[in-house]
Amino acid sequence: MGKLIGITKTKVAVFISGNGSNLKNLIKHSLKKDSQFIIKLVISSNSKAKGLQYARKFKIKKKSINYNNILNAEKHINDELIKNYIDLICLAGFMKILTKNFIKKFKGKIINIHPSLLPKYKGLNTHQKVLENKEKFSGCTVHFVNSKLDAGKIILQKKVPILKNDNPEKLAKRILKQEHLLYPKALKKIIARL
Ligand code: GAR
Repeated sequence: MGKLIGITKTKVAVFISGNGSNLKNLIKHSLKKDSQFIIKLVISSNSKAKGLQYARKFKIKKKSINYNNILNAEKHINDELIKNYIDLICLAGFMKILTKNFIKKFKGKIINIHPSLLPKYKGLNTHQKVLENKEKFSGCTVHFVNSKLDAGKIILQKKVPILKNDNPEKLAKRILKQEHLLYPKALKKIIARL
């Protein structure tokens, strides 16, 4: 935890790979007066990730990680996390799978947002699969990360109804809106217990 003008704020690192709309939203929440967290570091698995612009704009330290060799990549990430006294890692559209060793090292300190109602529809192409299966609902889930893909303890979930003329893009967009409400709520919930 970092002391900030008498208030203890949780130091967060956000991991991204692409657009970074969740990152942008978390930054917005972190800047609120009563926020309990501060984003100290942005890690990107992709040097061209659009989301890096938000780190630039809000003057947050950012690192693009070369993922040619996963062990070197994670060593680099680990060093940055330690250097910046990070308390909590938020995966936000981070499309790399962390190794068991890395997850073990930061046990209970990594959370992820996934665009489905877990445990249903783990992995990729969730919206397409949900529509193919003619589900009535989908949604999003914030959960702790453990060594199994999208399987850690659920922190919060939000249901989103499927509409008649939905396609994967439309559904993704509506779910993303809910993600932006859910992730800050989930952070608030777990920070109280860290
Ligand atoms: C979000 O919908 C997030 O839930 C999903 O990627 C999108 C990233 O959007 N994550 C996964 O699919 C992880 N398995 P963003 O870059 O605009 O935040």
